[in-house]
Amino acid sequence: MQELKEKIEKYGTVLPGNVLKVDAFLNHQVDTDLMYKVGQEFAKHFADQGITKIWTVESSGIAPAVMTGLAMHLPVIFARKHKSLTLNNNMFTADVYSYTKKTTNRISISKKYVEAGEKVLLIDDFLANGQAVEGMMEIADQAGVQVAGAGIVIEKSFQPGGKELRDKGVEVYSLAQIKSLEDGQVEFV
Ligand code: G4P
Ligand code: NA
Ligand code: NA
Repeated sequence: MQELKEKIEKYGTVLPGNVLKVDAFLNHQVDTDLMYKVGQEFAKHFADQGITKIWTVESSGIAPAVMTGLAMHLPVIFARKHKSLTLNNNMFTADVYSYTKKTTNRISISKKYVEAGEKVLLIDDFLANGQAVEGMMEIADQAGVQVAGAGIVIEKSFQPGGKELRDKGVEVYSLAQIKSLEDGQVEFV
């Protein structure tokens, strides 16, 4: 998505540890016109597949997920994140390890908002090691829900998440794919 790449080039900064900071339009301040187009792009790509709901993980996945839900006229669920050990019978849960933050969070989705026979689209802001998407897939598995695929705003293609998911047969659609952040430079695939 050309406009997204331009925003990354203009406003993105590279932090040590191969982290791309995009607080100007995605992770803190949200560029709503851009995010609206992101939602439309995911809606177009995943159209006509019988998708019934959008899933994401709080907090940074919410903006692109809500825009996708708006474009597809579908509800959006954001999995809640807790420190591990939170147990609740009314929730589906999965543990998600963050390589970036070196912490494990338990993500949960209330059983109240999941119905048998659903087909969900997973949306997230970043795909790096794939742990957030894997966590949502684990929950979908527990819930007996089908996964249509994953819509990702920015994929860090030099990290293993995208390849691992595609190797498993997951349809991963990323709007910007970053090949390298070496020497503070953003290089797209
Ligand atoms: P993974 O989900 O793909 O495995 O990601 P990883 O463990 O590597 O990263 C953990 C968190 O850091 C995730 O956010 C992920 O979106 C974010 N992240 C990873 N690489 C980058 C990057 O280069 N830039 C930015 N801005 N974020 C990155 P999270 O912990 O779920 O936090 P939240 O922001 O959604 O609340
Ligand atoms: Na995220
Ligand atoms: Na994030």
